Amino acid sequence: MASTSVKEVRRIREAVATHFGATRQSVPESPVAFASECLGFTLDDWQTEVLEEENPRKILLAGRQVGKSTLAGILACHKALSSPGSTVLLTAPSERQAKLLMRKVSQFYRMAGYPLAANSERKTGLELSNGSIVEAVPAVERTTRGYSVDLLICDEAAAVPDADYFAILPALIATRGEQLLLSTARGKRGFYFETYTSASEKNSAGWYEKTIRSDQVPDRIHAEDLEAFRKSMPAEFFEQEFLCRFLDTEGSLFSYEDIHAALEAGENIEAIKDDDIW
Ligand SMILES: Nc1ncnc2c1ncn2[C@@H]1O[C@H](COP(=O)(O)OP(=O)(O)OP(=O)(O)O)[C@@H](O)[C@H]1O
Ligand SMILES: [Mg+2]
Repeated sequence: MASTSVKEVRRIREAVATHFGATRQSVPESPVAFASECLGFTLDDWQTEVLEEENPRKILLAGRQVGKSTLAGILACHKALSSPGSTVLLTAPSERQAKLLMRKVSQFYRMAGYPLAANSERKTGLELSNGSIVEAVPAVERTTRGYSVDLLICDEAAAVPDADYFAILPALIATRGEQLLLSTARGKRGFYFETYTSASEKNSAGWYEKTIRSDQVPDRIHAEDLEAFRKSMPAEFFEQEFLCRFLDTEGSLFSYEDIHAALEAGENIEAIKDDDIW
């Protein structure tokens, strides 16, 4: 019964759209034009910059609530609509987070006025009549194997274990697919931290990198509210959540800076021999 009514709704929507000439609208080639012309959405300058960037590998480090998932949702929706037959994989550390991102994609598809019909619309995915699919799955190895991916979006990437991330990557090799990694800072370890560090320090690792702190979007995140949060949280967590600061991994004996400084100084740290331990 439920599936019949969903089909019925889809059929009516198609019929109405066809009647009023609203179906199969052309979608602008640029995601920025898609956001403004089809969604009536005013992007922040930093969102425009990321969407205009042509490097297929993008890494974004951002404070809380700056609008990173919104940006990812627009990019995913645009890719599926504008590149027939494409596969967009939305991943996040948990199924709930992946579904939240999918919700944004569905919201933008609706806001655009359903420019293409959908063969299937679910909480975890969307299949369009142009052959494109968007799938939202948790970034765990057993769910991500089997896809050939044109655009991989990994939300809250710093919380995805290395083994799971590296198991997804081969899905991009045959398609030469794009990647967007986005996250709030977490510990100084793992693929996200390493990728961000090499991209931002050397700027030659083949990645486009963008950092945006919560205090850099004053239209939505007000200075006085940030100040109130600063006073109510331990400083390091405030800096992690809002100011893009990577904390030393909890429980580690030495800070990342100390270890790095020791290695840079070329110190020869000899392994402790069993004999030295009493
Ligand atoms: N350009 C924009 N104009 C107006 N509102 C926006 C814009 N970008 C994002 N927002 C709004 O800001 C809020 C936060 O957006 P979003 O969820 O994308 O942020 P986030 O960085 O992913 O947050 P979190 O760190 O909690 O995951 C949402 O209400 C979203 O609709
Ligand atoms: Mg988010």
